[in-house]
Amino acid sequence: DLYGAERKNPLGRDYSRWDVRAAAARATGLALADHIAAGPIVGGQLLAGAGAVPLHSPVDRSRLLGAVSAATRADIDAAAKRARAAQPAWDRRGGPARARTLRAMGDALETDMDRLVALLAEEAGKTLNDAVAEVREAVDFCRYYAHLAERQFAGPTTLNGPVGEVNSLELRGRGTFVCISPWNFPLAIFTGQIAAALAAGNAVLAKPAEQTPLIAAEAVRLFHRAGLNPDLLALLPGEGTDVGAALVAHPHIHGVAFTGGTETAWAINRQLAARNGPILPFIAETGGLNGMFVDTTALREQVVDDVIVSAIGSAGQRCSALRVLYLPHDSADEIIATLSGALDALVVGDPADPATDIGPVIDEDARKQLEAHVARLEREAKVIRRLDPGAWGQKGCYFGPVIAEVPSPDFLEREVFGPILHVYRYDPEVLPQVTGKLAERGYGLTLGVHSRIERFAEEVRAAVPAGNVYVNRSIIGAVVGVQPFGGEGLSGTGPKAGGPHALLRYAVERAVSVNI
Ligand code: SER
Repeated sequence: DLYGAERKNPLGRDYSRWDVRAAAARATGLALADHIAAGPIVGGQLLAGAGAVPLHSPVDRSRLLGAVSAATRADIDAAAKRARAAQPAWDRRGGPARARTLRAMGDALETDMDRLVALLAEEAGKTLNDAVAEVREAVDFCRYYAHLAERQFAGPTTLNGPVGEVNSLELRGRGTFVCISPWNFPLAIFTGQIAAALAAGNAVLAKPAEQTPLIAAEAVRLFHRAGLNPDLLALLPGEGTDVGAALVAHPHIHGVAFTGGTETAWAINRQLAARNGPILPFIAETGGLNGMFVDTTALREQVVDDVIVSAIGSAGQRCSALRVLYLPHDSADEIIATLSGALDALVVGDPADPATDIGPVIDEDARKQLEAHVARLEREAKVIRRLDPGAWGQKGCYFGPVIAEVPSPDFLEREVFGPILHVYRYDPEVLPQVTGKLAERGYGLTLGVHSRIERFAEEVRAAVPAGNVYVNRSIIGAVVGVQPFGGEGLSGTGPKAGGPHALLRYAVERAVSVNI
C-alpha cells in the first residue's frame, strides 16, 4: 500500500488553553534570546563560512534573531566529498533501515514543536496556527517517505518472465542530490525535499532560502541528532546566484530538487542543460496563477470563508494561494460585499499572538513589490477594500491585504505573491472564453470550483490545467498522503510531494535478468 493507510498525524496545539499559550510564549522568549549562529554545516560541524549577515525578524525589524554566514567554494567541495564517500553505504542499507532514521527525525520534530513554532513565527512571520501546521507537515513528510522507502526500496522485485530466467527490478539512490528550498515553507518543504532524497538512498547538499537559514539549521541539527550520518546531509546557506549556482554546477551531483519561483527554475534548468556529462534529473515545484470559479448555485457564506482562507490567509504567501476569483454577474455584488466585511474582521499583528490572523510578509523587498502592484491596481483596476496594518506597518514588513476588482479575465500576467485577491465578474454565457484566458497563462498549480452542479465543476476542470483541484473548499493546505501536491506547465515538473510517486525521480531503476 503506497497510499499510507497507516497514517498517523502528529498532534497540533490548542491555543485556547492557557497552559499551551504559556508554553508557546516561553518558547518564543527562548527563541528570541538565543541569537542563533547559522552557517555552513559540513560533517556535522558549523563552519565559519564567508561574512556574517545579521538576521532581523520580519515581525519587528529591530529584533535581531541571529546571524548567518555563506558557504564558500571550499565548504561546498568538502561537503560534496563527504557526501560522495558516505552515500553508497546509505544506499546499500536499504529502504527499511533508512526509514528508521526518517521516523526518528519525525519524532524529533514533534518533540521540538514549540521551539520550532516560535522560530517559524519569528524568522518567517508565520502565525502560530500556520507554524504548527508546518511542523506537522514536516513530520508527515518524514513518516510518509519512510513508509514509501519501506515498500519501494526494500530490495529487488521479481517480475514475470519465461521459465529458466529470473527477472527483477530494483530502485537505488542516484548519488548526491542538491535540494534548494523556499522561505515560505522553510521547515516543511526544506525537510520534505531532504527526506525524499534520503529515503531514496541519496546524500543531500541543502541550500535554504536566504531569508530563513536559522530554521533550516535547526532542522539539519535534528536530522543529525536523529541518527543520520552527518556526512549525508550538509547545510550550505547563501545567495541563489552564488551558492545555488555553484551547487547546480558542481561536478559531483546527481540531481536537483527545487521549490521556488518559476524564473529561478528556468535559470537552474538552463544551467543543468549547459553541463557536459551525465544528464541530471530536475524536480521543480514553482508558482501558480491560481483561480477559483464560482457559479450561482454555490453556498455564498462558504465561498467567502474559503476565499479568505485561500487568498489572504498565510498573508497569501503560498504557491497554492488563490489569486483570481471568478464570480458570476448575478451573485458578484453580494459576495464582494461579504468578502469586504470578512476582510475587515481579520486581525493583522504579531504572529506569536494566538489572536492574530495575518502576520507580516517575508521582507522589505516583498512589501515593496506588493505595494507597486497595488499602485497598478489603483491605476488600472478598482481597489475595493484594504486593511490597514496600523502601527505594525512601521515595526515590521507588514502589508495591508487587498481586495480589488479587475477589468479583464487575464489582467494578471504572472503570480503576485502576497495577500491580494483579484476578483473578476464573468458572464456565464462566455465561461469557456474566461477559463481559456486563464489556461493561456500556462501555469497549472491549484484550481478551485464552488458549485453544486457537477457539470460546471467538470467543465472548469477540463478547461484549466491544474495539479491540484479543490471543489467546494479552500484551495490551500494540501496534506501529505491525502492531497499529493504539485503542478504542471509553468508550475513545475512533478512528481508530487507527499504522493506515492514522489521518490521515483530521486532514484535509478536497474533491471537484472539471470538465465538459470
Ligand atoms: N503545499 C502548500 C499548500 O498546499 C503550498 O505550498 O498550501
